[in-house]
Parts: sequence; structure tokens; C-alpha cells
Amino acid sequence: MNTIFITGANRGIGLELTKQLAKEGNKILAGCRNLKGADELRILQKDFEHVHVMELAVDDEDSVDQCFKKLSENNQKIDLLFNNAGIIDWSDLNAVTFDSLEKVYRTNLIGALLVMRASVPCLRKSEQPLVVNLSSRLGSISLRGNTQLGGAIAYQCSKAALNMLTKQSAIDLSALGIRVLSMSPGWVRTEMGGSEAKYEVDESVRSMLQALRKLQPSDSGIFLGEDGKEISW
Ligand SMILES: NC(=O)c1ccc[n+]([C@@H]2O[C@H](COP(=O)([O-])OP(=O)(O)OC[C@H]3O[C@@H](n4cnc5c(N)ncnc54)[C@H](OP(=O)(O)O)[C@@H]3O)[C@@H](O)[C@H]2O)c1
Repeated sequence: MNTIFITGANRGIGLELTKQLAKEGNKILAGCRNLKGADELRILQKDFEHVHVMELAVDDEDSVDQCFKKLSENNQKIDLLFNNAGIIDWSDLNAVTFDSLEKVYRTNLIGALLVMRASVPCLRKSEQPLVVNLSSRLGSISLRGNTQLGGAIAYQCSKAALNMLTKQSAIDLSALGIRVLSMSPGWVRTEMGGSEAKYEVDESVRSMLQALRKLQPSDSGIFLGEDGKEISW
């Protein structure tokens, strides 16, 4: 049984990761910022005794510290961390506001950094620790200008910055045996992705988990699609 921490586990891709990984028999630490709005997680918790709901707002440093302090004090091991929590603002360069830029960066970049850093003591207890940052093809600089949708400037910049976090932390944490990668789930039918998206959420998650199972021990500091193929930065 692996122990897996998932941020933003109460809906969308995070909830589906929780479902599929709990069904496989893993222990899930399911991060959620609003416990009152976590009905589906509560139901899962009833079905799977190894699902534990943890209060965690990734854009709040105190919340991150409290959550991981408790886990470290309890000597908790984490084998796999999904930095999944994320938000989008579709505004383009002309329309985006200072507040929105700040909010998107706080969640998608700073939140991911804080969670990854705070989880290191728990990750170090694992034999093969891995961090997966949920990124997006919209964060790929080299894909700009082709047919890929664009214009969500705050989101795109935040995911490009998240990719740099992946690359640099893969280097910084390699001495501790912690691997870090970015993964795009594809375009998925969630609240964020909308109803026109390519994948049902269960398809995307199944495909990502399959790709993660095929990773080589040396795979770190890379950017993968849901199909396991590398995406250029
Ligand atoms: N859907 C797509 O097509 C797509 C494509 C590429 C990448 N992604 C990435 O995949 C990840 C998941 O996306 P999704 O489609 O599942 O989005 P979603 O349906 O909008 O769900 C987002 C999740 O993140 C949580 N969250 C947001 N801000 C948070 C914060 N400050 N602290 C804790 N949790 C927070 C939300 O919690 P609340 O319920 O409390 O708001 C929710 O659980 C995101 O990082 C997204 O950028 C998605």
C-alpha cells in the first residue's frame, strides 16, 4: 500500500485520483480547503477506511504548515504527492487584473511550492518518493502559437512557472532521492475544463496513472502528457 497525498481532492481530477487510487488499496491523504463542501469525499471515506480528509488551503501558508506539521509529527510517510489544486482565469493580456494574477499565482505556483517543501520530511520516509505537479499544455512555452488554445494569461504564466518549479526542484531534491515531474491531464470535463473537453475525468486519470506506472526510476524533471509522452517545455 502506498500513501498518496492529493491537494484539491474534493472535486474534479483530485476527487477522481482519490477514487481510483483508493480502489487500488492505497492510503489517501485527501487535501481539501472547505470540509463543508466535501460531501463526495465523505462518502468515499465511508467506503474506503484508508481515505483520510485533511484540511488544506494551498494558498495559505499557515494552513500548509499546520497540515504537514501534524503529518511529520506523526512520522507519516508520503510516497506520492499530487500537487493538483488549481484555478484558472480565462482573461487575456488586456483584461487580466492585478488581483487575479496574484490569486492564480498564489494557488498554482506558490501553493504548489509550499506544499512540496512542507512535505519533504514525509517524502523522505518513502523508498521511492515522487511529486507530480498537475501542469497544462497551456503552460508550454514551445506550444504557443500553434493550434493550442491560448489567452488565459495568468493561468498560462503560472503553469509555465510551475514547470520551472518542477525542473529546479527535481535538481534540488535529487540528493534526497525525491523525483519531481509535471504532468498535463489533457483537456478534461471538470468545472475547470468545461463540458466540451476531450476526456471524461475517469479516462484522463486512468491514463495518467497508467503513464506513471511506466516511469523509469531515473525519470525526474520532465513534463509528460496524460498519454505518458513528453511535452516540450
Ligand atoms: N480540466 C482540465 O482540462 C485541465 C487541463 C490541464 C490542467 N488541469 C489542471 O488539473 C488540476 C485539477 O483541475 P480540475 O479540472 O480538476 O479543476 P476543478 O474541477 O476546478 O477543481 C479544482 C480543485 O482545486 C481546489 N482548489 C482550488 N484552489 C485551492 C486552494 N487554494 N486550496 C486548496 N484547494 C484548492 C478546488 O477546491 P474548491 O472546491 O474548494 O474550490 C478543487 O478541488 C489543476 O491544477 C488544473 O490546472 C486541468
